[in-house]
Amino acid sequence: MLSVSDVSLSFGKRLLFKNVNIKFLSGNCYGLIGANGSGKSTFLKILSGEQEVDSGSISISSGMRLAVLAQNRDAYNEHSVIHAVIRGYPRLYEIMQEREILYSKPRMTDDEGIRVAELEGDFARIGGYESESEAATLLSGLGISDDMLQKQMSKLDEDVKVRVLVAQALFGNPDILLLDEPTNHLDIESIGWLEDFLLKMRSIVIVVSHDRHFLNRVCSHIADIDFGKISVYYGNYSFWQQASQLIAVQQKDRRKRAEARAEELRRFIQRFAANASKSKQATSRMRELDKLDLESLPRSSRRFPYCSFNPERKLGKTVLELKGLSKRLDSQALFSSWNLSAQAGDKIGFVGSNNLAKTASMDIIAGELGLDEGKFTWGATAKFDYFPKDNSRFFSSDLSLSDWLRQYSAEQDEAYIRGFLGRMLFTQDESLKRVSVLSGGERVRCLLAKMMLSGANVLILDNPTSHLDLESITSLNNGLIDFDGTIIFASHDQQFINTIANRIIEFTPSGVIDRRMTFEEYLQSKDVADLRNEMYGDRHERLRV
Ligand SMILES: Nc1ncnc2c1ncn2[C@@H]1O[C@H](COP(=O)(O)OP(=O)(O)OP(=O)(O)O)[C@@H](O)[C@H]1O
Ligand SMILES: [Mg+2]
Repeated sequence: MLSVSDVSLSFGKRLLFKNVNIKFLSGNCYGLIGANGSGKSTFLKILSGEQEVDSGSISISSGMRLAVLAQNRDAYNEHSVIHAVIRGYPRLYEIMQEREILYSKPRMTDDEGIRVAELEGDFARIGGYESESEAATLLSGLGISDDMLQKQMSKLDEDVKVRVLVAQALFGNPDILLLDEPTNHLDIESIGWLEDFLLKMRSIVIVVSHDRHFLNRVCSHIADIDFGKISVYYGNYSFWQQASQLIAVQQKDRRKRAEARAEELRRFIQRFAANASKSKQATSRMRELDKLDLESLPRSSRRFPYCSFNPERKLGKTVLELKGLSKRLDSQALFSSWNLSAQAGDKIGFVGSNNLAKTASMDIIAGELGLDEGKFTWGATAKFDYFPKDNSRFFSSDLSLSDWLRQYSAEQDEAYIRGFLGRMLFTQDESLKRVSVLSGGERVRCLLAKMMLSGANVLILDNPTSHLDLESITSLNNGLIDFDGTIIFASHDQQFINTIANRIIEFTPSGVIDRRMTFEEYLQSKDVADLRNEMYGDRHERLRV
């Protein structure tokens, strides 16, 4: 059992948790949900001991081993893939190392001989002899083949690294497993495999995710962070949604009624405070107002940001021309001899399973990556802003949110900057926060604020939805539908592609398919289906976003 007793934590004025009490039990899988910035990642860090609390305590039944999905993707760069996975079980890895040292000696002393025997016993008991084959099985489930096992981690693509780290967390059947957004960098097949794996586990699993489908498949319980509390519901995500909607409506009504009453009282007091004949009534109303204490009525952390992108100038007809563009990664061609003419009003969705091609092409047109052959030209009126997939380089500084955003603004006025932060749900106090402590979703909201004030008429977005909560995804989705410039984007969210794109580009192994139609039309088109068959040859590739 993993129990949380009376845990409270605040960062400055921001209260994340107040007197949280929960017992997590073996055999259950808890989906930890809540708005961006509500404290999900922080809560997992509290459970693993990485984050201290202001008060309260965490206790774990004796002998239980806890494993965590590593958040620092570079932490194991020095290791081979197979060793990185085995390191997920530190005790086993230590024994392995010590054994190897002893065995490599030309002669062992008596003491060393005894030590080896001890180690062998421990090694067998915790499944050491099967460890390499277990690690390889986990990796293969996540799409990493045996020929990659000895490769050094630093040489891997980000998405592959994440899969190795997922295997590391699962390795050795931990008693408690903490996973923070494990599906973010996984393809659909690996997600399916992970779902099956988690369903078979008998451990305590606590998983943070914004992916409704995933939560519905794996969770036996939902732990919802809101109002500074964590409420545990029995059942999966859909069940939680139904139960919580009812409660939310009741709470909102209560708050609304209280606010309306407060307003009425305030008006009365203002009008009659100076009026001697009504002073008694005014005083009693003041007392009632004090008692109402709106602050103690909780306010939900689920809010909708406001996304609206306004181009500084209108686009001329031609926005971007690509001529014979080619790019290879290692020896594999991502695309070759690619021609494209993007026009004003095009909203181009990149689709297909080749994510590297999508990212590389965006990096190239944004001027952040060189190309192998061909050339590209931006139209004279085009001004783009780029939202890259990996945004960590933007947030390594120690600047406050408002100083950070000011770097990207011609208008330096504080109120102007705060206005944009406010639209993205960062309040007065929060704009003083350092960007280095932002949560995943908060970082995305900051980059969207930067994009909104850029005045760009071309938006390039590589997976902007992957860390966002549902409220923010909806706002961004609407903002991009309303935007009247050109958009070039990729997203794993099918709804997003369906509603925004009016032109689809699919990267296939033998070239690019480019059609002016919506994604739904693309999926239904006979002409596209024939062309896909031809381009994928024998590999019957299902279309992915
Ligand atoms: N060391 C810190 N100092 C101040 N504030 C912090 C610190 N660490 C985290 N925060 C703030 O605490 C809040 C919770 O952060 P956390 O990363 O736990 O959110 P989250 O629920 O995981 O969000 P997301 O869904 O975006 O990943 C955020 O507003 C974050 O900026
Ligand atoms: Mg988080």
